[in-house]
Amino acid sequence: MSGKVFIRTFGCQMNEYDSAKLADVLAAAEGLTTAERPEDADLVVFNTCSVREKAQEKVFADLGRMKELKRSNPGLMVAVGGCVASQEGAAIVTRAPYVDVVFGPQTLHRLPELLAERRRTGKSQVDISFPEIEKFDHLPPARTEGPAAFVSIMEGCSKYCSFCVVPYTRGKEVSRPFDDVIAEVAQLADQGVREVNLLGQNVNAYRGATHDGGLADFTELLLHVAEIDGIARIRYTTSHPREFSARLIEAYTSVPQLADHVHLPVQSGSDRVLAAMKRGYTNLEYRSIVRRLRKARPGISLSSDFIVGFPGETEADFEATMKLVEELDFDDSYSFVYSQRPGTPAADLHDETPQTVKLERLRRLQARIDLQARAISESMVGSVQRVLVERPSRRNAEEMSGRTSNNRTVNFPAAGLAAGTFADVTITSALAHTLRGELVGSPAMADA
Ligand code: SAM
Ligand code: F3S
Repeated sequence: MSGKVFIRTFGCQMNEYDSAKLADVLAAAEGLTTAERPEDADLVVFNTCSVREKAQEKVFADLGRMKELKRSNPGLMVAVGGCVASQEGAAIVTRAPYVDVVFGPQTLHRLPELLAERRRTGKSQVDISFPEIEKFDHLPPARTEGPAAFVSIMEGCSKYCSFCVVPYTRGKEVSRPFDDVIAEVAQLADQGVREVNLLGQNVNAYRGATHDGGLADFTELLLHVAEIDGIARIRYTTSHPREFSARLIEAYTSVPQLADHVHLPVQSGSDRVLAAMKRGYTNLEYRSIVRRLRKARPGISLSSDFIVGFPGETEADFEATMKLVEELDFDDSYSFVYSQRPGTPAADLHDETPQTVKLERLRRLQARIDLQARAISESMVGSVQRVLVERPSRRNAEEMSGRTSNNRTVNFPAAGLAAGTFADVTITSALAHTLRGELVGSPAMADA
């Protein structure tokens, strides 16, 4: 098969990462290039998300349009992957018989084989198994387009929070071998990558096998990644409060490459709700992590995930969340109203709070975090920030755009500065979502 593939990605950064790998797999195995629209494609892939009901419904609504597209282009193949595929399996083909292949998050590397089998037999193919971490052994070498890259270090989740489908759709926690991760980061650094974002549902649960038969934990991995020539900035997504060890906090004093930003999902500020969610920590334990982190790295910025309106959440529970938000000065959030997910323990809990009340709580929480983020941005005006230059600015080709260590986008006039260099920039003004600045200078690579 040659031709074009259109990949539609729903949901999290994991799925974004998987879609990029999928494009690489299809280019290597079938010579497919990417299409901008499904109308121009020979293969359409949906990489789906089922973390909330809305995301799942959108998949089926959009899939309906593929049926029409197939009528005008009978050669078109349609494949569905990701978490909805994992959860629904063959039921997708029953509901939408025009779907040719269903594959899961751990079988994306098998898509070329599944497509071939579909062509040979004329029958829709379904493979949503969890063949441990085989996926990584079958992916083409890492490649990148910019100075910042994601590297997956583990798959799945074994935490079983009572509201979440991920442990069922992506399988249990499995870490990539230590040497494989280090080799991939080194390869990316050779291609000019300066910032890596280590990716996993709970990166600090990482336990990667080493070549001498041992196991390396997440902090060990960080220390080694920081040693790789060219890697000047390290981020990770997402960590979990339960395994946020003293050693990991300590790394913030000894590893300058660790960025001044942590995304640490808390979900709620109420111990009653946290227990019902089966999160495995209290509001005090979470605060203690943040207090120690800020002691190790003063000024570190903190973002989080919140679920508002979990079954049984009272006004007092929500006020406890608001108190936590204010006291810890969160800078950003992924926050949503609770969505009931079939098959999860929380789906059976009694829930009497009206949706309108939940939406109003969410609005208050987001307004407060926006206010705090704005104040943090304004407090940066006048400071000099080290920015990793990523690309020409979207609005003005004369300007470059990059990110600060605390994860803010800065646009500044910098004709001649190449992507991948670091720049010291004085922040001159704070806009709603970005900062503006003036170039002071560009540090030598060795000092970045
Ligand atoms: N590993 C992360 C952690 O430590 O919690 C979270 C990964 S989860 C896929 C991403 C976010 O989706 C969660 O933090 C949670 O806020 C949200 N989420 C998961 N299930 C949800 C549900 N049923 N309703 C609303 N939000 C949900
Ligand atoms: Fe979901 Fe909790 Fe894991 S939110 S991804 S079960 S840590």
